[in-house]
Amino acid sequence: MFAFIFSNQILADTPSTHGDSEKGKEIATGVCAGCHNADGNSVIPNNPTLAGQHPEYITKQLMDFKVEGDSPAKRDSQVMVSMVAALSADDMQNIAAYYAQQKITPATTTNSDESLLEVGKRIYDGGNLENNVPACSSCHSPNGAGIPPHYPKLAGQHPAYTISQLDAFYRGGRTNDINHSMQKVVLRMSAQQIKAVAEYIATLH
Ligand code: HEC
Ligand code: HEC
Repeated sequence: MFAFIFSNQILADTPSTHGDSEKGKEIATGVCAGCHNADGNSVIPNNPTLAGQHPEYITKQLMDFKVEGDSPAKRDSQVMVSMVAALSADDMQNIAAYYAQQKITPATTTNSDESLLEVGKRIYDGGNLENNVPACSSCHSPNGAGIPPHYPKLAGQHPAYTISQLDAFYRGGRTNDINHSMQKVVLRMSAQQIKAVAEYIATLH
């Protein structure tokens, strides 16, 4: 439902999907691997796994980390803002093409609390009528594969990273979501619901 309202407005600035993955591989393995691993399967829970992510979403994020002139970056992260400073638009598309081709190794959930996962699944699949939380599946698809180009893949992501982003949308530290579609969602969620849904997302394949 939300997806329909937004899609017409955001189609205009869809980044192109054509990148040279061989050139992207050189940068990814040379510069980014220390934190995201050579194949984009980060082993550090706070760093996102990029393997298998849609190229349009990766390119958009890299562009959003970039500082242009005097205006601050659209997405704030000290580390990533400095990482993209030297990248050209072509570099970004090449890197995105490389990561998109890598196969994801889903995060292993250390969580063994079945009832927490059940709460997470309920919110993911059906939202929460009491607080008007929309179903995550309506934009990110039922299995977490996302809907390119605008709705990122979430399946198999590290819970710690997912929580950090939901938290950032909540507190306003991340505001690069077009039409604030994510901020509107998380403002209605409790910390416990955020944790539950993040743990559930890690189990999706
Ligand atoms: C020192 C560690 C480090 C290095 C090196 C690094 N990153 Fe990151 N990267 C991070 C962290 C931490 C985040 C999460 C930032 C946040 O909290 O928003 C991130 C986020 C990202 C995202 C956003 C992913 C998403 O799901 O939204 C992309 C894309 C990305 N990095 C690509 C790269 C590329 C390309 C390079 C190399 C040019 C690189 N990173 C180098 C630590 C690093
Ligand atoms: C109305 C559509 C919509 C709904 C509903 C929605 N999302 Fe999103 N979500 C988005 C969009 C669009 C983005 C990408 C924002 C951007 O471009 O940076 C996003 C990004 C995210 C990210 C960041 C991914 C990353 O790699 O950094 C997470 C995590 C996320 N959503 C989780 C959820 C969860 C959990 C729910 C359900 C409680 C949900 N979303 C519901 C549209 C939606």
